Amino acid sequence: MDKILIHGGNQLKGEVKISGSKNSTLPILFASLLTDEAVTIKNVPSLADVDTTIGLLNFIGKLAVKKGSVVKILSKEKYKHIAPYDLIRKMRASILIMGPLLARLKKVDVSLPGGCTIGSRPIDIHLDAFKHLGVEISIDGGYVKTSAKNGLKGNTIHFNFPSVGATENVLLSAVLAEGKTTIINAATEPEIEDLANVLTKMGASITGAGTKEIVIHGVKKLKGFSHSVIPDRIEAATYMIAAAITKGQITLKNVTPKHLCAVSKNLKNCGMTINETKDTISIKWTKYLNPKNIKTDVYPGFPTDVQAQWMALMCLAKGNSKITETIFENRFMHVPELKRLGADITINEKEVLIKGVKKLSGAPVMVSDLRAGAALVLAGLAAEGQTIVSRIYHLDRGYDMLEKKLKKLGANIKRIKN
Ligand code: UD1
Repeated sequence: MDKILIHGGNQLKGEVKISGSKNSTLPILFASLLTDEAVTIKNVPSLADVDTTIGLLNFIGKLAVKKGSVVKILSKEKYKHIAPYDLIRKMRASILIMGPLLARLKKVDVSLPGGCTIGSRPIDIHLDAFKHLGVEISIDGGYVKTSAKNGLKGNTIHFNFPSVGATENVLLSAVLAEGKTTIINAATEPEIEDLANVLTKMGASITGAGTKEIVIHGVKKLKGFSHSVIPDRIEAATYMIAAAITKGQITLKNVTPKHLCAVSKNLKNCGMTINETKDTISIKWTKYLNPKNIKTDVYPGFPTDVQAQWMALMCLAKGNSKITETIFENRFMHVPELKRLGADITINEKEVLIKGVKKLSGAPVMVSDLRAGAALVLAGLAAEGQTIVSRIYHLDRGYDMLEKKLKKLGANIKRIKN
């Protein structure tokens, strides 16, 4: 397994181009199953999760090919209705295959998904939504077996929690259902709007995407599309924190600053200087950072996907801070690893108390999940001496050219192939 080796202490300076959003790309790739026509998706990041999704689409019956940052998808053969364990287990987002296949085939058997090990991550909200659309569901041999013999029927679906994936799965199915579907308490993340924009280009009738109530009027057929994916706000936030933790100065290009409001606001409160244009963010360290408590929340709150990176930053702030995780249980697996670098952190159920320390010292650390990995790389960039980060396959799921981009900004970082 590859490792990343970092000699910390370099201030990061320069420009970095942010890639397309992983969390937008995946549902948009699945949307291609809703049409037999040609699809072109641009600004696609090079990530293991994208390759996994392309592999899944090709297994189901598409001909999807990625060249650089463009994915072209054609229809190859009649779709299979079974998504097997080997293809699903790697990534939780594989569950998004259910919506489009139910819409097209009226049945699908999907192996229960895997992905990051952050909490139990059930799929009850997805399944309950499908039941409301007329789907019969059973669980058998590790598979969710579903069928809608009479086709999908529009309905009102009230989410008890605004699940991002479940909102996407309903969008990806209700667009071809009979009649009107209303999602109440829908997720409002920018990736939902991006998916709705794609579906609208395909001929779907959707209003309210990006708000808590989405209304979908089902149509009979959808057409092909060409679309450029929105910038990855989580990757962008990670580079903003890289500037902060290394006392550097970075300009991020190809970003949507309004998607990063919560992160920018908190970084400013810590003492970072931030200037924005329509599609760039310049961030500069000028003084020893103040501590700042954060509490993760659904969009537009502070993203849970930036919680671990924020913790790395707070380890070196001037004083004590508190982080509260409200979205996922068990999303503090980076804590013992940060402590190996010299951090002073105490976990108290959903809260973590961090006492800022003057310095971190390099050490071997192990990645447990994607964003925990980002936090360890950030801490390694600031730590004195050498940090060796292992199990970086988690990072390859979600960060496009991580070492190359960091190296270009001046980091002393390299990948060791094993
Ligand atoms: C998506 C993102 C992920 C991000 C998360 C929250 C993708 C590919 N992934 O994940 O990076 O961290 O949103 O912003 O877009 N839950 C249930 N039952 C369900 C579904 C979810 O209890 O049926 C719970 C989860 O266990 C979790 C919370 O709801 O505690 C949030 O999950 P959800 O919003 O669905 O996140 P994902 O779509 O999995």
